Amino acid sequence: MVTIKSKKEIEYMEEACKVVALTYKKLEECIKPGMTTLELDKIAEDTMRSLGAIPAEKGYDIGIKGVPPYPATICVSINDEVIHGIPSKNKVIKDGDIVSVDTVALKNGFNGDAARTFLVGNVSKDAKRLVEVTKQAFFEGIKYAKKGNRIGDISHAIGEYVESQGYSVVREFQGHGIGRQMHEDPGIPNYGRQGRGIRLEPGMTLAIEPMVIQGKPGILELDDGWTIITEDGSLAAHYENTILITEKEPKILTML
Ligand code: MF3
Ligand code: CO
Repeated sequence: MVTIKSKKEIEYMEEACKVVALTYKKLEECIKPGMTTLELDKIAEDTMRSLGAIPAEKGYDIGIKGVPPYPATICVSINDEVIHGIPSKNKVIKDGDIVSVDTVALKNGFNGDAARTFLVGNVSKDAKRLVEVTKQAFFEGIKYAKKGNRIGDISHAIGEYVESQGYSVVREFQGHGIGRQMHEDPGIPNYGRQGRGIRLEPGMTLAIEPMVIQGKPGILELDDGWTIITEDGSLAAHYENTILITEKEPKILTML
């Protein structure tokens, strides 16, 4: 179901999203080579809780038989890992890594969702360009996030831009509506056709999240039931914000 948020509900969404933005500010300050992904997870959890929010990914059940509930505050995916990497004390962040973090804060019953890909230390030019294009893909998409346009307009803009830069979009995962539930309708693919899908209305809150692969578009899932990697071993990046559709320009809720 697509939910249209009331004025009060939008305020709650803004609060949850602000927690996410502040969590990323903290992670950006702290992330460095030598640190484990579990240490990064702890910083995110402590930050969120200190701001009165609950880490919504922790215990999240994706609803697939045999897949355990997600065990952590952040998803942390390094280099050829695309999304849903599980924090671990055995996983050390190295100089030159690109580290994608995805996290959701729950506050006052509402969710805020965003992802960032951090450049750690001396990152190659190629990797940097991938991360920049992934971020720009989000901004290409939200040019169309306006009242009266359709979901397909956003999807199309993202997919076309990414491919014009020589990269591939992940087709198996997508953005989504967000509110009381982390994942609400509509689904927002990172490719598609203009003029297709539901019409955008003020009060819709959407998580738009390009996932981009440097090489060929295939993905694989690891035996932990969560971690998604690129099939060809090339790098991947992720960038996401929760936005609000308004009467005019969209409002990005997960940026300070
Ligand atoms: N935050 C992710 C998204 O962007 C969902 C991660 S699945 C979870 O939609 F189990 F980790 F929550
Ligand atoms: Co999301």
